[in-house]
Amino acid sequence: MESAVAIEVVLGDLAIIAESQGDIVPLVYQRFFAVSEDGQALMSHSDVHMQGRMFEQVLELLFTDDHFGPGSYLEWELENHLNAYGATSNMYQSFLDAVVAVAQSCLGDRWQTTNAEAWQQRVDRILTEVSVYEASNAGQSASM
Ligand code: HEM
Repeated sequence: MESAVAIEVVLGDLAIIAESQGDIVPLVYQRFFAVSEDGQALMSHSDVHMQGRMFEQVLELLFTDDHFGPGSYLEWELENHLNAYGATSNMYQSFLDAVVAVAQSCLGDRWQTTNAEAWQQRVDRILTEVSVYEASNAGQSASM
């Protein structure tokens, strides 16, 4: 599925979810913390406001391809997260899986193959950037 199509589907789904469910941020973090003990420990000092700000940036990455690639916002954010905060690629996978699981559960019967494919496309796009970043930085900390 092309990015533009996936983005359109995801935007539509989020509009429905916002209308029917309201704020899904607490549900996403609840789900993430339930599967990632390390992630929960790392975010133990975060409050709902910080979680909300982080989720806003995650939405930005779901909505556009503008923040990928060398010198991009995501690269800068990965530097903070992986090198400074101590987040891992597994945490990214778990977090984004949690976002998709919450979207699916909120949409109920409306969730069809197209929705699943669209969300997966966006998540894979972000996770590819995480892998590329990790691969290009492998060994850097060992040599410091
Ligand atoms: C695509 C995914 C992600 C994006 C776009 C993102 C974005 C952000 C942003 C913008 C902030 C700063 C919020 C603020 O205080 O204004 C933040 C903070 C933080 N994020 Fe993420 N994040 C992502 C995934 C993760 C994951 C998977 C973890 C793992 C647990 C994580 C851990 C943290 C922590 C610990 C902080 C707080 C750092 C501090 O100020 O002490 N993030 N994130």
